[in-house]
Amino acid sequence: MKTAQTIDGVRKLLAEARQAGRSIGFVPTMGALHEGHWSLIDQARRECDDVVVSIFVNPLQFSPAEDFDRYPETLDADLAGCEERVADVVFCPSVREMYGEEAGLLTRVHVSRLADRLCGQSRQNHFDGVCTVVAKLFGIVGPNRAFFGEKDFQQLLIVRQMVADLSIPVEIVACPTCREADGLAISSRNRFLSPEQRKAATSFYESLSGAVESVRAGRRDAAQLTASIRHQIETSGVDRIDYVEIVDATNLEPLPEIDKPARICVAAHFGETRLIDNVAVDAP
Ligand code: PAJ
Repeated sequence: MKTAQTIDGVRKLLAEARQAGRSIGFVPTMGALHEGHWSLIDQARRECDDVVVSIFVNPLQFSPAEDFDRYPETLDADLAGCEERVADVVFCPSVREMYGEEAGLLTRVHVSRLADRLCGQSRQNHFDGVCTVVAKLFGIVGPNRAFFGEKDFQQLLIVRQMVADLSIPVEIVACPTCREADGLAISSRNRFLSPEQRKAATSFYESLSGAVESVRAGRRDAAQLTASIRHQIETSGVDRIDYVEIVDATNLEPLPEIDKPARICVAAHFGETRLIDNVAVDAP
């Protein structure tokens, strides 16, 4: 496994693979790697000749009030894990390498409508930061395929829309959400939960699983379903629910009734820690 800290360096490492016609699979991450990330890397390993992982905590996607400064950094363990998973190249640039001096980038990539809903409502400019760094990473790495988790379903759809709109020649592959034994979606932020908050957070997946069962049993009404999810999360000891929404799985528009493939999406604060989750539901 090779590592590169510079844009030139990673391009040089990949030039040979590209010339030899090897397919490049890419997994962009912000580090603090866990089972969710490993599953993406494993899938890239199975589907591509060469696997590139990027580790970059992207300041552009954090607002001043958010947790950029306390975002966990575990670079040595991340590199050891990547080696174990047989990644070929790890790109871990500094902020300065990516964005230059103070003034930084003048460009932002904005995907309208999709980026303004759900998490976009409370995390202003978040998805512009994500799209800008992902577009830049695609320009640096030039992958054939890039692997994104369904855990961040809105991010996945936005990145898909961006590459379609900008004709970026990369296939976006969706990977299923990895969960703890009790169903909690694995996240770098779970480590900040106190034992009580960790317990309360299980209500997230439990309430979503309950809703999936209700839909299977024939319930279609989004207002009823979201009310019962809200009730379950509220009684668990959550601090604040950000949203509980049932949306069209293709465009994130709210659905009053589940009459096509849909996604139930939730976000809430457990103490200082904001968690998100989502599940697929469909009409029979
Ligand atoms: P990060 O949160 O590190 O996540 C990197 C990738 O891992 C994303 O595609 C995310 O959806 C996926 N992932 C995280 N937890 C997962 C889980 N439990 N199961 C499956 N996949 C999971 O998402 C980002 O970084 C950044 O926004 C990034 C795309 C790297 C741009 O900075």
